Amino acid sequence: MNASCYNESQEAIAKRDFGVKHYTIHFQPDNLATTIHAGATLLEAAGQAGLILSTPCGGMGRCGKCTVRLLPSEKEVLACQYTIEHDLTVSIPDSSRFFKQQILEHGIQRKINGFPSIRKIFLENPPSQINALCKALSEKVSAQVVVRNTPDGALASQLSSCRGNEATAILSLDDCQEQNACYQLTGVEPGDTTGKLYGAAVDIGTTTVVVRLVDLNTSETVATASSGNPQSQYGADVISRISYCENESGPEHLHDTVIACLNELFQSVTRKVDIESNDIYEITAVGNTTMNHLLLRHPVRQLGQAPYQAHSLVACNLQPGELGLHMNPAGNIHILANIAGFIGSDTVAATLACGLDISKVNTLLVDIGTNGEIVFGTQSHLLAASCAAGPALEGAGISFGSRAQAGAIERVFLNEVDIDVDVIGSVGASTICGSGLIDAVAVMLELGIVDYTGRFCETEDLDPMLSDLIRRRVITYNNEPAFVLAGEYAEGLWEAAVVLTQKDIRQLQLAKAAIRAGIELLLQKAGTDTAGIQQLLLAGAFGNYIQKKSAIRIGLLPQIPLEKIHFVGNAAGSGAQMALISRDARKMAKKLAEKIDYVEIAHQTDFQMVFSEFLLFPEK
Ligand code: FES
Repeated sequence: MNASCYNESQEAIAKRDFGVKHYTIHFQPDNLATTIHAGATLLEAAGQAGLILSTPCGGMGRCGKCTVRLLPSEKEVLACQYTIEHDLTVSIPDSSRFFKQQILEHGIQRKINGFPSIRKIFLENPPSQINALCKALSEKVSAQVVVRNTPDGALASQLSSCRGNEATAILSLDDCQEQNACYQLTGVEPGDTTGKLYGAAVDIGTTTVVVRLVDLNTSETVATASSGNPQSQYGADVISRISYCENESGPEHLHDTVIACLNELFQSVTRKVDIESNDIYEITAVGNTTMNHLLLRHPVRQLGQAPYQAHSLVACNLQPGELGLHMNPAGNIHILANIAGFIGSDTVAATLACGLDISKVNTLLVDIGTNGEIVFGTQSHLLAASCAAGPALEGAGISFGSRAQAGAIERVFLNEVDIDVDVIGSVGASTICGSGLIDAVAVMLELGIVDYTGRFCETEDLDPMLSDLIRRRVITYNNEPAFVLAGEYAEGLWEAAVVLTQKDIRQLQLAKAAIRAGIELLLQKAGTDTAGIQQLLLAGAFGNYIQKKSAIRIGLLPQIPLEKIHFVGNAAGSGAQMALISRDARKMAKKLAEKIDYVEIAHQTDFQMVFSEFLLFPEK
């Protein structure tokens, strides 16, 4: 891209490189690496790599929960206090990980050792009849075993192919009565295949779809993959997708589109660990209620009209053939329960993962996505609301926006005389993701490049103290003022630039105002205000790490002490994973969906007023 300078008189720029040094940090045993600027903390680097550490004291260096080990010396340091000055390899123990802690605190440690709803039982010389097989299996698992309703003769034919040899039976616990545990026999495989038992936790967002492949024998995530939700081509948000469903073929089209996307992601994750999609036996899926309905081919028209009723809110189980997902036909698909028409199972999953159902302190969970969700309360009472944030914070609708992917700017910060950026992966900057967008606008507000209304300042009104290096970043791009975040500058021109335009700032304002108005109104409904927030958990798949200060600076989050804010990453995906590896977590999710009270925010009379108020950025 060629972009002409907004102020050509600023061409005489010092040639000195003011850029901040960047270092590569390797994390074990995850085998993940990230590149981050000098002076960042290990806590920030871990977050940037997608590893969320436990930080009960908010990174103040008091609780000791974020302890990690430097390798190869094994020296223990506090991730929140250790500043990076060179390349490092770091080992993160389970005890310092946020979600491992949450799972332990839920008292479901045994599930981590592997007790998902699907299991495999190895048999030597299996009986030749299905009934006899069920009896033999009953003895092995000390519970009743019945045959799942499968195509006629399928099980018998599978069994006959194993006769006289070794066999592995596949059992599913899901459709059984909770009081009298019983299993369903869903398939029989020749040989000993017990070592291959994988599951996929699926988070279907309006803009982004994420799949985590989990080894169900160890409960560990072995691969992840994400992509844009291809339904976006038929509408950026849930309302436009519901409108698209007015077309006769619309619902089927949207359903097929997301199924194709999931199958591609399954292929991607299984390839990473050299297995087949057929080795996936269990899938748990979460999403907002519209995504959930489109997946299940439920009618969606009523979700777009008051009173926004869901066709169904309950959790359900399906056989693989019912959805056309590429997985083992003996497997099971579990869809978590929704809360209301605009609050789906992704909120249930995020609430579960963050432990709000056992929280004794007033916790505000903000899950930022195209459809933003907010939950507030304690274990005794939880309220939830949704807000139509739009896709800007997931990088969509922004000139150079993208999901958090290689080449995306995920952090923007000031050095002595200029700005600098952290980019995902070992590549140059080509796009900007949500966390980078929040940072970039916070920096532009600090520098006075944009004012509190979000308007770019005229060049003659810029602070005369601004360095030339900053000033040359203010350009005209496609006939509107813009700010260059990264690129090559030579002779008054920017090449390969990543810019933020006036229109992009407006998109961000709309998104953050929707979320912030939702927060304020939900707090009001709970009879409190910002002072009543004892803990704020920020979730979302918009980037691996968000700077709390930046989120407060742009007014996305209320002004509360930084130590009360904890970033929890893709909590909905983590909740889906908990439901995948733990039958108890699945039951907890069901109870949570019934327990959380939905609050209608967007149609309250004062919503527009509060929304307009928060369109503005806070003044310094
Ligand atoms: S000591 Fe690092 S988060 Fe508490």
